[in-house]
Amino acid sequence: MDYPALARTIASLTAGETDEIALMATVACELHHADDRFDWTGFYRVTAPGLLKIGPYQGGHGCLVIPFDRGVCGAAARTGEVQLVPDVAAFPGHIACAASTRSEIVLPVRNRAGDLIAVRDIDSDRPDAFDETDAQELAAILDAVFAR
Ligand code: SME
Repeated sequence: MDYPALARTIASLTAGETDEIALMATVACELHHADDRFDWTGFYRVTAPGLLKIGPYQGGHGCLVIPFDRGVCGAAARTGEVQLVPDVAAFPGHIACAASTRSEIVLPVRNRAGDLIAVRDIDSDRPDAFDETDAQELAAILDAVFAR
């Protein structure tokens, strides 16, 4: 994955835009089509204290609502930390929106004030598909778009 090139593409496509849904839709599209590992690529937005609701995504069906105390998405929102899951079957409380998912990465998304506005979820049908480089590069892209 050529993350520097992807970051440049996303930066030029989102230049000057401040609407969070427009930004999420664009990032979800560009990421989803950038790598064959990515089978579901989307955002869950914080719509109430302790509650995530689906936002822009690419791929098959995504669950609509996730409380902070559930799933990988809930863990990322609750802890504010990246969740790198090599085997979803081994993650207690994993929410299976698609039976084909084998591994997952979920990152917190913050605005310029540092508020948690969403989590960014990527599922793969391959086991152990994500690593620390993915975590760092994806976090940098999210910061560049949502915290600028
Ligand atoms: N697997 C996630 C739920 C969202 S689907 O992957 C789209 C979770 O456990 O939180």
